[in-house]
Amino acid sequence: MTVARSILHISASDIEPSAEFAAWADANDPLAALRSRFEIPKDASGREMAYLVGNSLGLMPKAARTRVLEELDDWARLGAEGHAHGRRPWIDYHQHFRGGLSLLTGGLPSEVVAMNTLTVNLHLLLTSFLPASRTRGVRRKVLIERGAFPSDRFAVRSFVAATGGDADDDVIEIGPRSGESCLRTEDIERAIADAGDSLALVMLGGVQYYTGQVLDMPRITRAAHAVGAHCGWDLAHAIGNVPLSLHDWGVDFACWCSYKYLNGGPGAVAGAFVHERHHANPPPRLEGWWGTDPATRFAMGPDFAAAPGADAWQLSNPPVLSLAPLLASFELFAEAGIERLAAKARVMTAFIEMSLRVRESDLRIITPSATGHRGCQLSIEVQGSTAQARARFDRLLPQGVVCDFRHPRVIRTAPAPLYCSFGDCWRLIEALHA
Ligand SMILES: Cc1ncc(COP(=O)(O)O)c(C=O)c1O
Repeated sequence: MTVARSILHISASDIEPSAEFAAWADANDPLAALRSRFEIPKDASGREMAYLVGNSLGLMPKAARTRVLEELDDWARLGAEGHAHGRRPWIDYHQHFRGGLSLLTGGLPSEVVAMNTLTVNLHLLLTSFLPASRTRGVRRKVLIERGAFPSDRFAVRSFVAATGGDADDDVIEIGPRSGESCLRTEDIERAIADAGDSLALVMLGGVQYYTGQVLDMPRITRAAHAVGAHCGWDLAHAIGNVPLSLHDWGVDFACWCSYKYLNGGPGAVAGAFVHERHHANPPPRLEGWWGTDPATRFAMGPDFAAAPGADAWQLSNPPVLSLAPLLASFELFAEAGIERLAAKARVMTAFIEMSLRVRESDLRIITPSATGHRGCQLSIEVQGSTAQARARFDRLLPQGVVCDFRHPRVIRTAPAPLYCSFGDCWRLIEALHA
């Protein structure tokens, strides 16, 4: 067994596809104690499940209950006074998430804001970065991905149509090459260059929801800017999963949900990033009273005086009860650090990959294996028919292993490093081959 002291610093050659390695890795994981800060679902016999669907819904930090109860108590105790005199006054409740979001996105504090839900934020940001005025000019197209999450595709196509464009003409869709599962950066760059000055916006997922591929966000952003287009990212599967540097990459906008790797709870309040270069002379945007400057908001004047930064994109006052669980999660991210979490995810995914590869198998990982091209998700394609793949998947849950299935033949598995163990990963391997 390896002599390295921490699993965060071991190399691929130190990894062994065995239960013994999993036990050793868990004993040498400096992040292992964080697991006890989460509620881990149990099976009927009381055994903890191997919960590998943090890409769908992250687990509940134990402190989330306390944080929600604190707000309920303040409501009970103070009524409307809670806006100003609660332990975390509700009036600027969203401020508590600025630091955490800034760390996780690599955005400046003024560039990030917790608000709304993901698809709503996407529409709000499309209003700004795919303005209706485009239809009067040449630059009117938007590039998305053929395999985009349906809500993204619906949002973009409906937005294009609602603002006077033609979704069939104006939405360019790019997919993997025939016989391949993942997108190639050079193909995306070529599509951008081909669209040239007809392109208004590139809008892609930072981590592809189906394959788990991490796109080369800085390179694609540069390519979009090189033809004069904006670049925006859906970070639903990226935030809390892979380190991000949105400000330095020059990304125009991004949005995400908080119920996956951010563990904010079902339907949690989402977030948005708007680069500071768009703050002073903002593009068109939809407005609401919470986007106004807090210093003058309650003067209730008729004119919109914008709040500084991304806050100006807010519409409504923050839904405190849906935000409170995120406080608990951000405390854990601050302790762990996204770089250390990503390092653990690299070892976990390498361990699963190696353990699958040493067995004769009808399973193929379609997620890229190169460092930097995946986070903690591995998408495992079952060879054969959809029914066979489904049957393979259906055997996992009774063995206490929680993954999800995506048509036609993919089992998605995501050992979220905040609470998953190498033991969980080994249980997946055993269950897949049982
Ligand atoms: C990549 C991606 N985009 C959009 C959505 C839709 O999110 P919401 O229902 O929060 O708007 C999801 C949900 O899982 C997603 O994974």
